[in-house]
Amino acid sequence: MNLKDLYIDYFVNLGHKQIPSAPVVPENDPSVLFNTAGMQPLIPYLMGQPHPYGTRLCDYQKCIRTNDLDEVGDTTHHTFFEMLGNWSLGDYFKDESITWSFNFLTKTLNIPKERLAVTVFAGNKDISFDKVSFDKWVSLGISEKRIAKTEDDNFWIAGETGPCGSDTEIFYFRSNDEIPEVFDPSDDRWVEIWNNVFMEYNKSSDGSISFLPKKNVDTGMGVERTTAILEGVNDNYLSSIWKDVIDLISEISNVKYEDNPKSMRIIADHIRTAVFISSDYAGIKPSNTDQGYILRRLIRRAIRHAFKLNIDINSDWEKRIASLIIDKYKKYYKELSDNEQVVYEVLKNEKEKFNKTLEKGIKEFDKIVNSLNSDTINKDLAFKLYDTYGFPIELTEELASERNLKVDTLGFKDKFREHQEKSRTASQGKFKGGLAGNSEIETKYHTATHLLNAALKQVVGSDVHQKGSNITVDRMRFDFSCDHKLTDEEKAKVEQLVNKWINESIDVKCTEMSKEDAIKSGAECMFIEKYPDIVTVYSIGDISKELCGGPHVKNTSEIGKFKIIKEEASSAGVRRIKAIISDE
Ligand code: SER
Repeated sequence: MNLKDLYIDYFVNLGHKQIPSAPVVPENDPSVLFNTAGMQPLIPYLMGQPHPYGTRLCDYQKCIRTNDLDEVGDTTHHTFFEMLGNWSLGDYFKDESITWSFNFLTKTLNIPKERLAVTVFAGNKDISFDKVSFDKWVSLGISEKRIAKTEDDNFWIAGETGPCGSDTEIFYFRSNDEIPEVFDPSDDRWVEIWNNVFMEYNKSSDGSISFLPKKNVDTGMGVERTTAILEGVNDNYLSSIWKDVIDLISEISNVKYEDNPKSMRIIADHIRTAVFISSDYAGIKPSNTDQGYILRRLIRRAIRHAFKLNIDINSDWEKRIASLIIDKYKKYYKELSDNEQVVYEVLKNEKEKFNKTLEKGIKEFDKIVNSLNSDTINKDLAFKLYDTYGFPIELTEELASERNLKVDTLGFKDKFREHQEKSRTASQGKFKGGLAGNSEIETKYHTATHLLNAALKQVVGSDVHQKGSNITVDRMRFDFSCDHKLTDEEKAKVEQLVNKWINESIDVKCTEMSKEDAIKSGAECMFIEKYPDIVTVYSIGDISKELCGGPHVKNTSEIGKFKIIKEEASSAGVRRIKAIISDE
């Protein structure tokens, strides 16, 4: 059995319910583009909301971290990884958590305890030394010399605010050297394999820390790193997770791994992440913004390295690699089989788009470099590479750094923004990495969308279904199935109905339930496949019930006045309404 199966079995036997991996895009957290840790989808439950599966949970979660994207190419960095996690939501705490981690490592995985060391929270002015964890480790036979006390490294929080707490981290001695008696966490022969966070606090935006309603445990173990350790390899890409992917790239390119490990790792990593992003039910496609931009960067960077390996770019090399990855993972992630063709299409389309200009772009780049009389590629040249040849700025930076040159990236971003404003396409935020969508006004629009959907059903017919929606701070757009242009009377009725419900001050309720129950209860839903097994359903009195990630207002009275400003055709059989809300 592999690590993932062993882990899930072990915790299921200890009364944990396995929960499915959440989609790669967080449903309710606009501060990040992708889920970066197993706990992220569980934040509401760590904050106190009851989880429908109970108080002991475990899973493997698809995680994507792109802040280290440019580091990929060495032996340890990956943009996608799976995180194993077990959670206690106000159930067990330090004692069981530490004991079970220790037993899993030493008994299930047969790691000798002499190869293990741990850190515990040293204490600071607010929170005292974690003596309970320290004593527990000693009682399990970990020598005191192998327990390091640290302050900053032993307090865990996902971002700036939210559930947090002291943690204890478990390290493995990954070297053939003699194991030092005293553990030094800064000695990089010791690698961290597991992090057990004791989440009992909540940090607010003003920096204050208060107790959560319950004491929780959140643990995380990276699959790729631990697998490499268990298999005794010092390069993650030589473990069973990657070996066959690397072999295939080697076969396709006719290049030996040792001859260009960097390009092979980049191709392997980026294609795998692109497979997971494009197969996700979130339906992400390459674009110039947000998640789509990351997907584009990954594919384009992989192509550039395929080019370096002299792979015939027009062959189906990317499909062969993607297909191997899908085969390896489809047992664990159904979306891979469901969306296999989508993945191949996304890769191929993006390849064709980029390939048309890549060679010319590189020639142009070399021309630019040869004519430079400074060590910096200025913003205009960087912009030309972006605009004419489709080079993500990061690609220009990478090519430049290979030639010891700098790029005026800040200048480029200014120019990029100017250009965006001029061409009146999407405005701010593209490079900040955040998603829009959770401001107060957008939240109001979200709820107004549900009311509009319900009103259309009452006025136009119950076979009206939502086909899409788009919300900005200035307006909402709503697409729905309908075979005729709405009459003035219908429009007026719809508007009146929505305003009537707003005036009736109806509470908006949010419930968690299984997808099956949600559908049985008659909840509306646009793309059922997009949702995990457990879903959030928002109900507005008995007017509307929809599967939705939110966010929504608490009461319809918060919305303001609703007004339809336009009704037009969108595509065959689909109409589009644009509406605004105002304060009066
Ligand atoms: N949230 C912690 C981490 O990501 C433990 O799961 O390390």
